[in-house]
This record gives sequence, structure tokens and C-alpha cells, in this order.
Amino acid sequence: MQGKYRALWLNDDNFLEVIDQRKLPFEYVTKVLKTTDGIVEAIKNMTVRGAGVIGSVAAFGIYTASMEVENLGYEKLKEKAKLIRDSRPTAVNLMWAVDKMMELLKNSTNLVADAKKYAIELNDEEAKESQNIAKHGADIIEEILKKKSKTKINILTHCNAGWLAVIDEGTALAPIYEAQKRGIDVHVWVDETRPRNQGASLTAWELTQSKVNHTIIADNTGGHLMQIGEVDMVITGADRVSANGDVANKIGTYLKALAAKDNGVPFYVAIPASTFDFDIRDGMKEIPIELRSEDEVKYMKGIDASGVVREVLITPKDSPAINYGFDVTPARLITGLITDKGVCKANFSEINKKFKKA
Ligand code: MRU
Repeated sequence: MQGKYRALWLNDDNFLEVIDQRKLPFEYVTKVLKTTDGIVEAIKNMTVRGAGVIGSVAAFGIYTASMEVENLGYEKLKEKAKLIRDSRPTAVNLMWAVDKMMELLKNSTNLVADAKKYAIELNDEEAKESQNIAKHGADIIEEILKKKSKTKINILTHCNAGWLAVIDEGTALAPIYEAQKRGIDVHVWVDETRPRNQGASLTAWELTQSKVNHTIIADNTGGHLMQIGEVDMVITGADRVSANGDVANKIGTYLKALAAKDNGVPFYVAIPASTFDFDIRDGMKEIPIELRSEDEVKYMKGIDASGVVREVLITPKDSPAINYGFDVTPARLITGLITDKGVCKANFSEINKKFKKA
């Protein structure tokens, strides 16, 4: 949580309320999600997005579903859980949250009360992890500055992995907020992150709210900035990390990792434990990549001179487009994973040692 904002909360009527992220940065609007169908739709149309936050919404989604099925019991709840679980394919936090909630509720005799309690607990744990990620990441920032004998750090980030994406401080942005608290002079290069522009619209908005010095760059600019020595480190979030340390994150992350490797720039990925998928041994082959509507590539949204938000076509009307939501960065390109438990090398043995469930 930065300042007065949170990505989601239970309102006074005990329904889930969320920020409608589709409207940012032009309008701050919230939405109350009262039904399972509403929650599924909000995840699909990206009213809420970001790996951690869709997991959080999914947990409260099970609570919402439990109110609908109250007298019909656990078996009926399972049907609703499946709808939530299948709403987006790449970020594993979504499936993790649904599975964890359903496991906890297996023997419940009061579905509604228990689901509410477990959803709140799950979210509190995620928030605690985010605070630890902030501290471990800020320690790395201090080390890099010390090694380079510099006082100002330039960090490049891709997409949005702040508090709009993972409660409560985010993942990739959490160390940046913490560094600022420690009095470090931080400047962030914000990749615009086409096609949906989560960097230009959401990360830039978050950083503006928290008064963090930043510059928005076109997605193709990062490599050049690295070549001229203007990037000290890269930090991104992730949507799924395989047991061998391959990282699925927003489309374009892989190209930044390649450029970072070529220029000797440290490339870190900040994640909560819920982002690991221990069932996948080869992220390149096995992580499902979301394919979204071509309209997200062909149209752009913005605000015109009279203050009206409009969507405009930027391509020939009949040209086809393809829209992969994510790519996979192989573990060999990753300097380290910034986790709740400290920095972990992106390889099978270290991940297994630190995180494998018993
Ligand atoms: O498609 P989105 O906006 O839900 O994508 C998820 C992301 O925001 C990023 O990939 C992010 O870096 C990981 S979420 C912590």
C-alpha cells in the first residue's frame, strides 16, 4: 500500500471492491464485485490484473462464491472455483490461490465464514512477503551502489509489478519504494509495455503517486540505455517461475534480459512464493502463454485535448495482428530471484532447497 491506495479490499457490506485498472491513469474508479460471474469477468477483461492481485481476487472470489452456494455445499463451490481458476492461463498465483482456498475449505462446516477468514489470511501473508521482498531488494540496490561507488541508481522495469499487481507494496517496485524510504536517490526507466501499456499507464501512475523519479521509455529503448551505461539494474516481476528458474513475465521481458546479459547489467526478478510452479521443470516448453485479442495491438487508448478518453485504431483496419501476453526468460539470463526468503539463484537446486513444499 502506498499512501491512501490499495488494489482491493472488503467494503463495509463485506463485498470485494477493487480499483478498475482499465481506467487508470485517467480516472480513479472502483468497482464492487458481488458475484462469481462478476469476478471471473473482472479477471478476464483486466479490470484487475497482475499475477498477485488476480490470486488475491481469486481468494475473495471463493468467498464470494461461497455466499452464492451456501446451502448447496462444497461440491457446488467446486464448480464455481473452476470458473475462477480458468479465467486466465499464465499467472500461476490464480490457480494457487483457488487450490489453497479449496483445500482449506474441504472440511468446513461454515463455508462463508471460513472462506472470508482464509481469504483475509492469504492476503495478509502475501502482503508480508511483499514487505520482505522490499527489504531484500533494497539491500541489493545498496550493494550495487556501493560496488559502483555511486549515489544514484537507474533501474529499468517492465510492465507493472507494483501494488496494483501484488498486494501490498508489489514485487518489482517494492524494493524501489523501500530504497526511496532509505533515502537512496532512485530513478526508474519505465518500459511502456505494449500492447496494453501497463508500464506507461500503471507503473508511471504508481510512481507518480509515491513521488518516485521516473522516465517512461518506448519498449525498444532499454537496450540502447544499457549500452550507454544508463541502467544499473533491471527488476521485473513474474507470472510463473518453473522449478528450474525459467520466468514467464509480460511479453518483451525476454528481450530486456538478453540486452542485460550482453551489457553486464544485473537482471533480477522479484516474486512471492506463490509464483513458483513446482510441477513445471522446463518453463520454455511447459508454461502456457496467454493469447489475447488482436484488438489490444491494433487499438490504443488515450485522452484527447478536450479531456475525453478515446480508443483509436493505429493500424490498417484489415491487417491481422497477434497478441501473446507473455514470454519466457530462460533461467541462465537471470542474476537472481528476489524472494521473501532473500535472493535465490534461478536454478533447480537452490529453488528446491529454499522453497519446495514438504
Ligand atoms: O497481463 P497482466 O497485466 O496481468 O500481466 C501481469 C503483469 O503485470 C506482469 O507480467 C508483471 O510483471 C508480473 S505481475 C507481478
